[in-house]
Amino acid sequence: MSISERIKNIHASQTLAITAQVLKMKAEGKKIISFGAGEPDFDTPGNIQEEAIKAIRSGFTHYTTSSGITELKKAIIEKLARDQNISYDVSEIIISNGAKHCLYNALMALCNPGDEVILPTPCWVSYTEQIKLAQAVPVFVQTDPDNQFRISAEKIEKSITNKTKAVLINTPNNPTGSVYDKKELQKIAQILVKNDIYCISDEIYEKLVYDNTKHFSIASFGEKIKAKVILINGVSKSYAMTGWRIGYAAGPKDIISGMSKFQGHCTSNANSIAQVASVEALIGNQDSIGHMHNEFDKRRSFSCNMPEGAFYAFPDIRELLNAGIIYDGKKVTNSLELTNYILSESEVAVVPGSAFEAEGYLRMSYATSMEDIEEGINRLQKLFN
Ligand SMILES: Cc1ncc(COP(=O)(O)O)c(C=O)c1O
Repeated sequence: MSISERIKNIHASQTLAITAQVLKMKAEGKKIISFGAGEPDFDTPGNIQEEAIKAIRSGFTHYTTSSGITELKKAIIEKLARDQNISYDVSEIIISNGAKHCLYNALMALCNPGDEVILPTPCWVSYTEQIKLAQAVPVFVQTDPDNQFRISAEKIEKSITNKTKAVLINTPNNPTGSVYDKKELQKIAQILVKNDIYCISDEIYEKLVYDNTKHFSIASFGEKIKAKVILINGVSKSYAMTGWRIGYAAGPKDIISGMSKFQGHCTSNANSIAQVASVEALIGNQDSIGHMHNEFDKRRSFSCNMPEGAFYAFPDIRELLNAGIIYDGKKVTNSLELTNYILSESEVAVVPGSAFEAEGYLRMSYATSMEDIEEGINRLQKLFN
């Protein structure tokens, strides 16, 4: 086979494998309860849909500037000033095909072969593979469940070498649901400025924080750290717009223009219609956020360890792995085997912690109806007695 070493070297997504298995079982007529989803189960709000329809009817259906339309860049600037209290110039913004695409553009613009990117774990599935695709090296640093899976500034400092290019911080976090507080982020900012290291700050779950928890962007703590941060966000999770594929990055002009250069040759602009709709999402009526937020807030209370943000619970299953469960004639000893056991015996889909560099845990998304959550939890209770 002549597949490149680059592609051989990356893993296929475990989450997608589970989705495929769930679809197959559903097609066989089984009533599967899925806690696997990484997206809101709501429709995109009506006011956003209307703007997209208007854009189509008015013929806004051609290529746009590769880095995105000025109107949306200005809406992003307004949003970042309103919510994060950070000011950016139009030249410091790029719009891409989802936050995932922004992350890849950022890694490609920042990293030379062999550069190290510090990656606190558990972490979202695509970071590792994207870092490898950029020919950089992921340096995993395990976070502590007793510190709500948040990395300390000290741990980051200990992991820095002369090859460290960046640290990837994701708050609120997928899969753990944890949220960094202001003090912790300020300490991390100091370490990064002192060591001249970039921060890729993935804030895609920004709007999904609960109780008195507040989201802070590390870029908001002064000009020195702002000059080292590539802030990544988008409309997917906050506005139930996963299929529209709009993400954005804000950061130093030279890095953003490097990302634009790369994007210009790979994908050109993000979808023109979705860009127009995203202006409405970011600076139009924000009522729909409140409704979705309240729904997620109600649903998360079924969880073991109360998540502070996003829409994921991340239970510790280490006891279950030592409980001598037998599946398919073999002892269940890891999270993937337990996931398969649960799906087969209870028809409940969850995601193994190993997909997030965190063996011994499961990720359960509560972006599904309250009815399904109750039914799924009942089935799990029955299974594990
Ligand atoms: C932590 C994190 N970052 C980025 C993304 C990608 O978002 P988008 O749909 O905007 O590409 C996801 C999606 O699951 C995510 O969980």
